[in-house]
Amino acid sequence: MLPSNIDISGKTVLVTGAAGFIGANLVKRLVQDYKDIKIIGLDNINDYYPVELKYYRLAELGVERQHIADGQASLSNSCPGFLFFKGDIADKRLVSSIFDRYQFDVVVNLAAQAGVRYSIENPDAYIQSNIIGFYNILEACRHHTVQHLVYASSSSVYGGNAKIPFSTDDNVDHPVSLYAATKKSNELFAHCYSKLYGIPTTGLRFFTVYGPAGRPDMAYFGFTNKLLKDEKIQIYNYGNCRRDFTYIDDIVEGVVRVMKRAPECKKGSDGLSLSPYAIYNIGGGQPENLLAFVQILQEELVCAGVLPQDYDFEAHKELVPMQPGDVPTTYADACELERDFGFIPKITLREGLRRFARWYSSFYCMRSRG
Ligand SMILES: NC(=O)c1ccc[n+]([C@@H]2O[C@H](COP(=O)([O-])OP(=O)(O)OC[C@H]3O[C@@H](n4cnc5c(N)ncnc54)[C@H](O)[C@@H]3O)[C@@H](O)[C@H]2O)c1
Repeated sequence: MLPSNIDISGKTVLVTGAAGFIGANLVKRLVQDYKDIKIIGLDNINDYYPVELKYYRLAELGVERQHIADGQASLSNSCPGFLFFKGDIADKRLVSSIFDRYQFDVVVNLAAQAGVRYSIENPDAYIQSNIIGFYNILEACRHHTVQHLVYASSSSVYGGNAKIPFSTDDNVDHPVSLYAATKKSNELFAHCYSKLYGIPTTGLRFFTVYGPAGRPDMAYFGFTNKLLKDEKIQIYNYGNCRRDFTYIDDIVEGVVRVMKRAPECKKGSDGLSLSPYAIYNIGGGQPENLLAFVQILQEELVCAGVLPQDYDFEAHKELVPMQPGDVPTTYADACELERDFGFIPKITLREGLRRFARWYSSFYCMRSRG
């Protein structure tokens, strides 16, 4: 199904998860490139990882911590088109009041409880944010005229898929974590709402997104924290893991391209509406072995001055078995995104980790020294 164009200039856009890693970077890019766009950010700023990082990202967007209050709009002092709400997408009344007030043209749902390992011990958070929260967003889209709902799915829906690269045609009926199951559910819910109510929806299966001010629960960031504290890092499946890393700027480029082109509403041969529904993989397309990735990371951490030249990396590595919920490989076939949107990731893993290491050095190391 070929997508139809949306001119997002002058439009009103909701970004949920706006204090999160991908959300904050998306808002930054939108306010930079589309001067007359109005963006409403919504995020409950939960403490799944240190909230300082979320407030830091918001401050970069001109929203200061002391001006943020529950359920209230906070103005940005540097991005005139940006307004931030602290609130929960699982709060149906709040979500519908925000939709009533702003009449969104495009909605990008990035708010979710992320993380595979955390879902093993904390299932409630996933049902609340990823199931009830996403349902509230769909319901709000149903009762308002939204031209396009773009939402975050995940490579985790592929579970232990043995066939590589992962294609959107592959069977994804066997999730190996509750996180993955909620993401797959989002795709099913979205299909149903597209079919029943004609809401154009596009789900993006993100593959291991990384970069400056990223998520501390992810390997590159967690490893760095541990190495700096002189702790050992655990390398799962004895290093026999491959991850399709995608640099944040590439992800944002892909999301913006997708936002602007919604799947078309068409009639099938039976005269009934076909769902204006699409799913894409969005990944780097070049999976890297975990040990090679750690090697590049350690070189860049030394270059950026985060760790000393003579750091004994070998003494800080521990090869351990596979963890529950984890998968050995992720590898995106992103041909469809290239075909329909011209998306080609540009940033190499070394360049991306270099930018992360430099950011880490300025954010953590400089602060602790001075
Ligand atoms: N980063 C990745 O590698 C990756 C990979 C696959 C999928 N994803 C998905 O992409 C999206 C964004 O991920 P991210 O890496 O930016 O994660 P993130 O945790 O940094 O951002 C998510 C944000 O959503 C907020 N949030 C969570 N539950 C909420 C709720 N109920 N109401 C309002 N806000 C809520 C959190 O406070 C957080 O700021 C998520 O849906 C995630 O599942 C990310």
